[in-house]
Amino acid sequence: MPKTPPASHRRVAAQTDPLGAPPGGGRRTALVTGATSGIGAAFVEQLAVAGHDLVLVARDAPRLEAAAARLRADYGVGVEVLPADLSDPEATQRVAERAGSRSDPVDVLVNNAGFGLASGLLDSDPAEEDRMLDVLVRAVLVVTKPAAEAMRERGRGAIITVSSVAGFVPLGTYSSAKAWATTFMESLAVELAGTGVSATAVCPGYVRTEFHARASIATAHQPWPVWMTPTLVARQGLRGAARGRAVVVPSVLYRSLVAVVGVTPRRLLARAAAARRPERR
Ligand SMILES: NC(=O)c1ccc[n+]([C@@H]2O[C@H](COP(=O)([O-])OP(=O)(O)OC[C@H]3O[C@@H](n4cnc5c(N)ncnc54)[C@H](OP(=O)(O)O)[C@@H]3O)[C@@H](O)[C@H]2O)c1
Repeated sequence: MPKTPPASHRRVAAQTDPLGAPPGGGRRTALVTGATSGIGAAFVEQLAVAGHDLVLVARDAPRLEAAAARLRADYGVGVEVLPADLSDPEATQRVAERAGSRSDPVDVLVNNAGFGLASGLLDSDPAEEDRMLDVLVRAVLVVTKPAAEAMRERGRGAIITVSSVAGFVPLGTYSSAKAWATTFMESLAVELAGTGVSATAVCPGYVRTEFHARASIATAHQPWPVWMTPTLVARQGLRGAARGRAVVVPSVLYRSLVAVVGVTPRRLLARAAAARRPERR
């Protein structure tokens, strides 16, 4: 028997539901990449509380199945698993086809899967750089296009890409890829204006997830105020999408930082970046 989420959770989920109740009371489906951990798992949780059926994408099939079984049991929603490595063009194509399906439509797409690299371009492994570009850029483009086309036909939908505040500053190839992701969502929002479909880039700072450990990025020196939870990121991302925002920066601290960055000359930003040791957010 699915458990009923507490009223406070249901209220927040309703406020942050990017689409609101469907016309005629039908089901809605959300496809989330990188759904098994961190920010993606937080998006999945909140979309399930709001009553969305789910398509979960990540590489680790047993972990996907375990998440799906828990979500079905806890929330009574339909859950499909789609194991795929988004650095593999064939697997990405399968995800793109599911995202653009006309017979079993996806109403909300969350491009979230991603990872960082610990070293700068001059010291990194070129194969890893390729893989990162494929996951953070190519897969986002390839999956978003058919989803956006199908949503435009239905006059309804929401596309969210998890970018980063790193995209606002010159901090290596990860930050360059995230700058692309943010501009991509802003451009798509312009193209989709008036269609009933939203496009939103969510740009968090440091979030407590598996991200840093996976990339062997040291974080012990980061003070606690810079950290936020995956739940906050997902909640603010969904609320921003519901309000039709093209760019969402979760937390007052990071919004202030981005405002300062916006008025700082680029050569000063480059100097500040050079003073930092290479690390990724
Ligand atoms: N944590 C932060 O401080 C932070 C800050 C700003 C932005 N972000 C962004 O937030 C997003 C989510 O990261 P997170 O912090 O939640 O990290 P995380 O806890 O490491 O989760 C990453 C998720 O992506 C999946 N994934 C990784 N590589 C994949 C691939 N090649 N194909 C398909 N799925 C893949 C992982 O599952 P599998 O390993 O099973 O594939 C996992 O579900 C990323 O885009 C990241 O750049 C993170």
